[in-house]
Amino acid sequence: MTQFPARHTIPPGLVTLADHEQHARTQLDDNAWAYFSGGAADEISLHANRSAWDALPLWPRVLRPLAGGHTRVPLLGRTLAHPILLAPVAFQRLAHPDGELAMAYAAAALGAGVVLSTQASVSLESVAQAVLPDPGRGPLWFQLYLQPDRGFTQALVQRAEAAGYEALVLTVDAPTSGVRDRERRAGFRLPPGVGPVNLAGLQAPTPSALGPSQSALFDGLLHHAPTWDDIAWLQSITRLPVLLKGVLHPADAGQAVSLGAAGLIVSNHGGRTLDTAPSTATALPRVVQAVQGKAPVLVDGGIRRGTDVLKAMALGASAVLVGRPAVWGLANAGAAGVAHVLRLLRDELEVAMALTGCSTLAEATYALLDGHDEPAAGAI
Ligand code: FNR
Ligand code: LAC
Repeated sequence: MTQFPARHTIPPGLVTLADHEQHARTQLDDNAWAYFSGGAADEISLHANRSAWDALPLWPRVLRPLAGGHTRVPLLGRTLAHPILLAPVAFQRLAHPDGELAMAYAAAALGAGVVLSTQASVSLESVAQAVLPDPGRGPLWFQLYLQPDRGFTQALVQRAEAAGYEALVLTVDAPTSGVRDRERRAGFRLPPGVGPVNLAGLQAPTPSALGPSQSALFDGLLHHAPTWDDIAWLQSITRLPVLLKGVLHPADAGQAVSLGAAGLIVSNHGGRTLDTAPSTATALPRVVQAVQGKAPVLVDGGIRRGTDVLKAMALGASAVLVGRPAVWGLANAGAAGVAHVLRLLRDELEVAMALTGCSTLAEATYALLDGHDEPAAGAI
């Protein structure tokens, strides 16, 4: 699984998320590294996510009163200690034997929300049991991939509800995997003992014989891919709010909200699906504008610094999610490593707020990014 014995203490000298990345490279074998760090094809979107946050300047404001400030934000009817959640990432036991359980404990200890992947390598019930008793925890959401067998999907949703998950996050940007060159070069495979345990018993649909002019994708897999009609179906079988993850185009955002989506996550799947899709920092303001405040808009992709979190909030996000950085922390030191990553990011966010004159995140508006006095109406 891991190349070296799993660790539980934070190695000295790690003071940034990038330090965690560098160290994690020494903890994971080539197989796991290709899976966690890779993007699709030429990894244009993977890199664009990072460079787009970097390219946005923050205009500091001085001499503002900052005492008593805080990072609290409202989200879906509750108040979070800070706006950082853990993105759904599959197969976390590839990074550390404690996998999703360690992630969940760390998130709860740091007041961060958790979104558990459909392809988690630990049972969804055990993750819920780890998180729910903690009074300081953040939200607990379940990420859903609609399965070809809708009956199985419904049973999975019922399990998530029964276990105590508070929202469903339907991922809509991956009707098929992207072109994962890094994984293919590495010959990526799941090692024995790591698998999508919550999908046990799921029967793969019997592939129909394809004619010579037929496509395995269009005439096979995509017969079962979700469409807009499935949103109403999903809402009809659950009492939980349904958020959509993987929306980039403002027209899709508008449609999602008109169908009653409880929230949107602007995401390009960490650059793992459509390569050359826009960076999430580019798409976020357009989605925010299309949604017109009717639902919270979250964002992920390339968030590595407290300043990135602040920029996302200034562009209108309600919260952010981090994917790979939490995996690096997990690989480096299990739950302690994930907690360290979250702590670093939150501490950096506080510093960024103080140095831009924001005592609360409500004060982080577009004016921080364009250097004008007032947020220009319909700016962007
Ligand atoms: C993911 N992501 C993902 N998304 C999802 O909806 N379900 C999933 O099971 C997974 N699995 C997954 C595995 C790995 C290894 C990665 C890196 C990513 C996407 C994830 O939720 C998120 O959108 C990105 O990871 C965010 O980008 P950063 O923070 O990794 O740059
Ligand atoms: C991935 C899938 C599991 O990105 O979402 O690997």
